[in-house]
Amino acid sequence: MTMHTVCRVADIGIGQMKAFTVDKQRIVLYHLTDGFFATQATCTHVFAPLARGKIIEDSRVQCPFHRARFDIRTGAVVDWANFPPGVQLLNVVRSEKALSTFEVRVEGDNVQVDIPTN
Ligand code: FES
Repeated sequence: MTMHTVCRVADIGIGQMKAFTVDKQRIVLYHLTDGFFATQATCTHVFAPLARGKIIEDSRVQCPFHRARFDIRTGAVVDWANFPPGVQLLNVVRSEKALSTFEVRVEGDNVQVDIPTN
């Protein structure tokens, strides 16, 4: 386990998210009502930057490109790409795939993320 300090608690308000590069890994850090969570930064559909999407109901991140939605806490796909109409053709070759998630802990004022070393 390699914990990296990514930011301060106050840097991301509740209901907000922010992208970071940590040890060459692009991640998005989310601040939800029950704490901080981290996922890979790009959508598993066709790699849109998730931090430009939005957080829905304190639980899901919606991709800005084709509106796939993922459970922030687990990375699981909640809704796959469905916008604009016709994107389903692309989904034949880009099938559902969960986001990678990373363990997060708060140490004092620091938000730390575990980035596994390859
Ligand atoms: S890139 Fe995210 S839904 Fe297509």
